[in-house]
Amino acid sequence: MEPTVSYPQTRTCPYRPPHGYSELTAKGPLHRVELIDGKLGWVVTRHAEARALLADPRLSSDRTDPDFPLISARGAAVRRQPPAFIGMDDPEHGYYRRMTIPDFTVKRINELRPRIEEIADGAAEQLRAAGAPADLVANYALPIPSLVICELLGVPYSDHAFFEDASRRLMRSATEEEVAAARKELVQYLDSLVDSFSRDSSQTGLIGRLARGELARGELSRDHLVGTAMLLLTAGHETTANVIALGSVTLLEHPDQLARFRTDPDVVPGVVEELLRFTSVADSAGIRVATADIDIAGERIRAGEGVMIPNGPANFDPEVFPEPDEFDIRRGARKHNAFGYGIHQCLGQNLARLELQIALPLLFERFPTLALARPATELEPGRADTIQGLGELTVTW
Ligand code: HEM
Repeated sequence: MEPTVSYPQTRTCPYRPPHGYSELTAKGPLHRVELIDGKLGWVVTRHAEARALLADPRLSSDRTDPDFPLISARGAAVRRQPPAFIGMDDPEHGYYRRMTIPDFTVKRINELRPRIEEIADGAAEQLRAAGAPADLVANYALPIPSLVICELLGVPYSDHAFFEDASRRLMRSATEEEVAAARKELVQYLDSLVDSFSRDSSQTGLIGRLARGELARGELSRDHLVGTAMLLLTAGHETTANVIALGSVTLLEHPDQLARFRTDPDVVPGVVEELLRFTSVADSAGIRVATADIDIAGERIRAGEGVMIPNGPANFDPEVFPEPDEFDIRRGARKHNAFGYGIHQCLGQNLARLELQIALPLLFERFPTLALARPATELEPGRADTIQGLGELTVTW
């Protein structure tokens, strides 16, 4: 079959997936795409097939595989990231993921609640002190997850300006060279932390624990530790920050539902799930390469072909989410794929949920007259091939 669609597609509205997806989902579950290097691949646009494929061990996440699909020029640099389990298959993936799990269990994350509340409180003060109009991203959405992941990993928050900027360049730069430069800076930075934490038992965060434990015992190489730290640091702040920012825009654009959100604490978890579905910020995640032929939905995916399983179209599949274009806080959206599915399902989802369940209500409680400084229609959607979000969001109150 000849390619019928272009992928990835750019958003027209920053807080929801590209409109072109719904047409694709209506046409069928799998579509042929031509990638930037001319190779043919597949994009999967229905929820059932997306989940079946994300759980299929014949699809690999190994980014060092020469057939691993490229969805942008910067993708080539991503192939040369230090090793991290998001880009591995089991059993190797499970071996490294398990080392980090103690810090991300529901119990451990729930213990962080008082501290996250304190951090969100501090961010609200920061936003107020900035004075209206102020940037919600720099003064609220970013500091909360950034400070939380710093404390969890043991990364000094005083370095936040550096690593937030480097992470942003890593994820958003247009060229392979810019991505490689950002990667180098982050690797050097994290490598020096590993070095000093190896000798400092007061560093009780995840990096120090692994440095004096698994690394010292020879169960983890230094490269792997740096790769793991980089994955957790970058995945741990940008994503959640983007849901706080885009989620705030979505709620402001739906005043009736915002009114309910403000007054009824019981709806908060459901609102967060619907925002995760609706904003689908990690839409472009879920990239795989087939290691064997796979027959699905009347098509044959050949070994060596790239398979893109974006979560945006699955999260807007009308079979699972009736009237998917409606933002509806009562729908019970927990079946969304915003955190992925299968063995790579987001390690930080308990943490992200808790941060969102604290940060969003607090924002609207402290700033009852919060409003966008410019109409939402003027907000610029970001690059199609990376995490979706806003570089800045000016608000008033
Ligand atoms: C709302 C915020 C977040 C969203 C939407 C999100 C989304 C995702 C998605 C879609 C994947 C699957 C990637 C794939 O299948 O290839 C993933 C994996 C991952 N996420 Fe998140 N994430 C969020 C927050 C976080 C946080 C706070 C952390 C904390 C460290 C984190 C750490 C990770 C890690 C380590 C993986 C790789 C898991 C594995 O390969 O086993 N994420 N995330």
